Amino acid sequence: MELTLGSPQLAGVETDALILLEAEGEKRADLEKPLAGLYESGEISGKLLEFTLLHGVEGFRARRVLVAGSGKPEKLDAAGLRKIASAAVRFLKGKGVKSAVFALEGGAATAANVAAVATGVVAGSWEPDRLKSKKEPGKAVASVEIAVSAAGDGLEKAFGRGKVIGEALNLSRDISVEPPNILTPTAMAERAREMAKGTGLSFEVLDRDRMRQLGMGALLGVAQGSAEPPAFIVMQYKPEKATGAAHLGLIGKGVTFDTGGISIKPSEGMEKMKYDMCGGAAVIGAMQAIARLKPGIAVTGIVPAVENMPGGKAQRPGDIVTSLSGKTIEILNTDAEGRLILADAITYAIQLGCTHLVDAATLTGAIAVALGHTSSGVFASDEALLERWMSAAKDAGEKMWRMPLDDEYRDQLKTVYADIQNIGGRWGGACSAAMFLKEFAGETPWIHLDVAGTAWLDDEKPFLAKGPTGIPLGSFVNLAMGW
Ligand code: BES
Ligand code: ZN
Ligand code: ZN
Repeated sequence: MELTLGSPQLAGVETDALILLEAEGEKRADLEKPLAGLYESGEISGKLLEFTLLHGVEGFRARRVLVAGSGKPEKLDAAGLRKIASAAVRFLKGKGVKSAVFALEGGAATAANVAAVATGVVAGSWEPDRLKSKKEPGKAVASVEIAVSAAGDGLEKAFGRGKVIGEALNLSRDISVEPPNILTPTAMAERAREMAKGTGLSFEVLDRDRMRQLGMGALLGVAQGSAEPPAFIVMQYKPEKATGAAHLGLIGKGVTFDTGGISIKPSEGMEKMKYDMCGGAAVIGAMQAIARLKPGIAVTGIVPAVENMPGGKAQRPGDIVTSLSGKTIEILNTDAEGRLILADAITYAIQLGCTHLVDAATLTGAIAVALGHTSSGVFASDEALLERWMSAAKDAGEKMWRMPLDDEYRDQLKTVYADIQNIGGRWGGACSAAMFLKEFAGETPWIHLDVAGTAWLDDEKPFLAKGPTGIPLGSFVNLAMGW
């Protein structure tokens, strides 16, 4: 899709569809006369995400006008505009519309809003249909222009940033939606390599031999049940002029399929576990955006990619492995594999010199029990980092809810046979999982995101296709950009 920023005169613009925002409880002066009947009948109320598509509206040269409800004016923020823009594109492509102009009029044309609309338009154009041999005809809006009254330098920059984030979200979702027979750990590393090519990122994949040399026993234990070799992906961004000494480490769980291993999962719904690499895909997408947007902070992206299978060489409940940190771990459930690969990834990030860490993982079913599909769980060991994170997430429109890290949860992980065991008790599973990771983050300021409830959408929404959501890519990028 071609996306541009411009300043056309709205009444005269020729396009398949002109998108005009309509606030709740307000009537647009330019539509009041041509749409008097609709206003009177209450069919246009301005409620958020209410769409009314009209042909040949008097006073406009556009072939169609899409009146897009933007809700209560005092409630409308950048996150809301991103949703409206996404939903509008998704609505219009269903109608066979090829070109559209999205009007951000008057005070609405702020940098944050322009960026949000750009992200929304690009993300809204995405469909999870990469592997359909015949695409539905007409299912794409070919060009969109964001119309503002005067496009200055600030708006141009914001527009570019929004577009880059939208494209990164789509890359991340393209990777996430690939099925596990195609997206093996090796293939995931190849996707990351293709992304990194020509961006200036340094790129490396550690193979099984290298991981053995280093002593990544926790990760290798998970990988050993699969015929697919593991791949440890490292992507590094270095700013030309760093604004400080901070070095951000972004780590994403990359389990390309989670059968549970010997502690095998029930077959019903197991196909969903192809999504167990969404945290890793968000890191790969975020690194693409970071390479393009060039923040002033060094950022290292790490994705331990493995497949969790119950092969003849698979690890057993009762095995004890030695992690990269030197700590020994008793495996009591091979399905608690995410924390094992993340333990080694966290240690490796610290060895690389990362001063601040954020990991994202589809780690526990328990977080979805606690928070549903609305908010991601946030566990933070450092208040200053948490503050930065929550503000980055708010701007990205990605909902986050803080969960507790408390030594009482650590008690559940005690074992006499090793330094720590890999599962806690029946209750508070997301919290004991986080405490397991904390053991490896140590004193390094660290945030753990459990995105098991938010990384995948089972039923499409007006503003979001079914499938991977890309969460928390937007927050990752905002965190780096705002440092
Ligand atoms: N990838 C899963 C997390 C998951 C489970 C997401 C169910 C969505 C639904 C993770 O590796 C896992 O299997 N976790 C176990 C941990 C348990 C064995 C302590 C879980 O949550 O059941
Ligand atoms: Zn598992
Ligand atoms: Zn898993």
